[in-house]
Amino acid sequence: MVANYTTAVITGGTSGIGRATAKKLANLGIHVIVAARSIERGEETVAEIRSVGGRADFVSTNLHDEMSARLLAKTALELGEGHVDILINNAATFPPFGMTHDITESTFEGTFGVNVKVPYFLVAELAPLMAKRGSGTIINITTMVTEYGQPGLSLYSASKAAIKMLTKCWAAEYGPSGVRVNAVSPGPTLTEGVLSISGGDSFTNQMASQAPAGRPATPDEIAEAIVFLATDVSSYINGAILPVDGGRTAV
Ligand SMILES: NC(=O)c1ccc[n+]([C@@H]2O[C@H](COP(=O)([O-])OP(=O)(O)OC[C@H]3O[C@@H](n4cnc5c(N)ncnc54)[C@H](OP(=O)(O)O)[C@@H]3O)[C@@H](O)[C@H]2O)c1
Repeated sequence: MVANYTTAVITGGTSGIGRATAKKLANLGIHVIVAARSIERGEETVAEIRSVGGRADFVSTNLHDEMSARLLAKTALELGEGHVDILINNAATFPPFGMTHDITESTFEGTFGVNVKVPYFLVAELAPLMAKRGSGTIINITTMVTEYGQPGLSLYSASKAAIKMLTKCWAAEYGPSGVRVNAVSPGPTLTEGVLSISGGDSFTNQMASQAPAGRPATPDEIAEAIVFLATDVSSYINGAILPVDGGRTAV
């Protein structure tokens, strides 16, 4: 199923959805390179994967601009012995919940830096190499709140809406060379990131109650969709945005 794919880079692969994805890909025999800031969480993740026979490396990096993205790509290529087959643009910052008139320019720039600029330049660095080899997959993580206006989430939603459009553009640019680019659009998911925000638990449960499923997702449920799109079982899917939101955006 994944014979052609040996190496995956997962930004934010040390927590929540990213960590669940890293573990699943490693279980398939793929060498996973997880990138994030906290060395403690990075080392824990790698140790857990290695303890069950998986192959994993951690890159400690603050992904926030073009240089940090290009550097991660270069480090990952070294760790991957010259190639990266799967890129999962998962790391994101959740800016403070706030009305548009309360958001500062630095919060705006920081949010677009992590959520848009970093995926953009990771793709700029890695997609041409995948295209040259004629295979590879890129998965972007967006969110269901790009589908409707949620007060207080304008900045976050706008950054993720950019990623949705980039998914289609990159599928069009690199698809003819054998690179598939898709996105997963999760609904409310109980992750360390959400639970660390004040009121994150109740907000997530309240958002989840609006969906037919009536409950938040687990990180594993989102990771299953990411792995599906990252591997050959989805070989004819390109440029798709897959909602994994308990039906919220269907109603
Ligand atoms: N949870 C939800 O309800 C939900 C819903 C829809 C979409 N999503 C999307 O799903 C993705 C994962 O979310 P999550 O809830 O799993 O988040 P999470 O638990 O907070 O994990 C985020 C990961 O990203 C890393 N990270 C954050 N900022 C970084 C930076 N500047 N440089 C490097 N690494 C960074 C974190 O590690 P460090 O802190 O150590 O850097 C961590 O590994 C995000 O794209 C998010 O927007 C989540």
